[in-house]
Amino acid sequence: MEERIQSLLREIDDFKAKTKDELEAFRLKFTSRKGIINDLFEEFKQIPGEQKKNVGKILNQLKQSAESKLQQVSEWLESSSASETIDIDLTLPPIPDKVGNLHPLTLTKNRIIEIFERLGFNVEDGPEIEDDWHNFTALNFPLNHPAREMQDTFFIKKSAEGGGDILLRTHTSNVQIRMMQNGKPPFRAIMPGRVYRNEAISARAHCFFHQVEGLYVDRKVGFADLKQTLYHFAKEMFGKDTKIRFRPSFFPFTEPSAEIDISCLICGGSGCNVCKYSGWVEIAGSGMVHPNVLRNCGIDPEEFTGFAFGMGIERVTMLRYQINDLRLFSENDVRFLKQFQSVL
Ligand code: PHE
Repeated sequence: MEERIQSLLREIDDFKAKTKDELEAFRLKFTSRKGIINDLFEEFKQIPGEQKKNVGKILNQLKQSAESKLQQVSEWLESSSASETIDIDLTLPPIPDKVGNLHPLTLTKNRIIEIFERLGFNVEDGPEIEDDWHNFTALNFPLNHPAREMQDTFFIKKSAEGGGDILLRTHTSNVQIRMMQNGKPPFRAIMPGRVYRNEAISARAHCFFHQVEGLYVDRKVGFADLKQTLYHFAKEMFGKDTKIRFRPSFFPFTEPSAEIDISCLICGGSGCNVCKYSGWVEIAGSGMVHPNVLRNCGIDPEEFTGFAFGMGIERVTMLRYQINDLRLFSENDVRFLKQFQSVL
């Protein structure tokens, strides 16, 4: 009998339960009224007196260990079942993954490219770290001329006499120079890209921004071509009722030069704070390529003429989506960026 009790003790010791059913089976086997332990107590009555002391001791031990195991496992099952049996409705649709979206500046850049590509313009690219010649000198900015101060420049390396400076490009016109130097007219291309100017950061200005410049050089290109091209662009970009006007301006690399305004999209021309009550907002600079620029790139200005224009992608995007602070574009706040999720 002692041996049987010892082996039951081992069985109790090893017992583990994952479910309440397993625990109930344990209870029925050991501690219930008809369980083994009660049977053993019955048997105990029959054994000879001299064995009673020893057997009684381990029998009581068996009873206690079965009862405490029962208690212990049932507490454990109570506490873990609370966290493990949360009702999961497997028929519910899954929570969709968050999808990203294109940056609003990319959306605008893509739309600009789309419009000009249909007019036969290629897309050209060039370096953001540039030398003085491609950024200024070839574009007819004389050395030490105040025109260079129109574009507060980040210099990377200053050379003693100025002409050999290395800098962050202040406009994408450097790509026009590289293109004209390396190829033969006709040229018809746009150049989107990032540019840098040493300006205080505010709602309207930043030390880096994006431009799209355009260049069209061929025989007999005239100002009427420039006007018509940008008129077409404005209507495609901002809607067919958009009006356009040219204001005389100055750029060292174009002559004549003009700034381009479109009728205000917000108030339709009647005057609001976006257009500063003028009814017009500026979107681009433009002009006929200066003969000196063509000559600097080895093109004969007697044979070829061209027009060029340049606009800020941030500015166009602000008008397009009525955004009033330029800093939002580079702050990476998802609450701002995700608003363009459904826009293509
Ligand atoms: N390069 C000019 C700028 O940086 C824009 C421009 C391009 C103006 C071509 C006229 C013609 O702002």
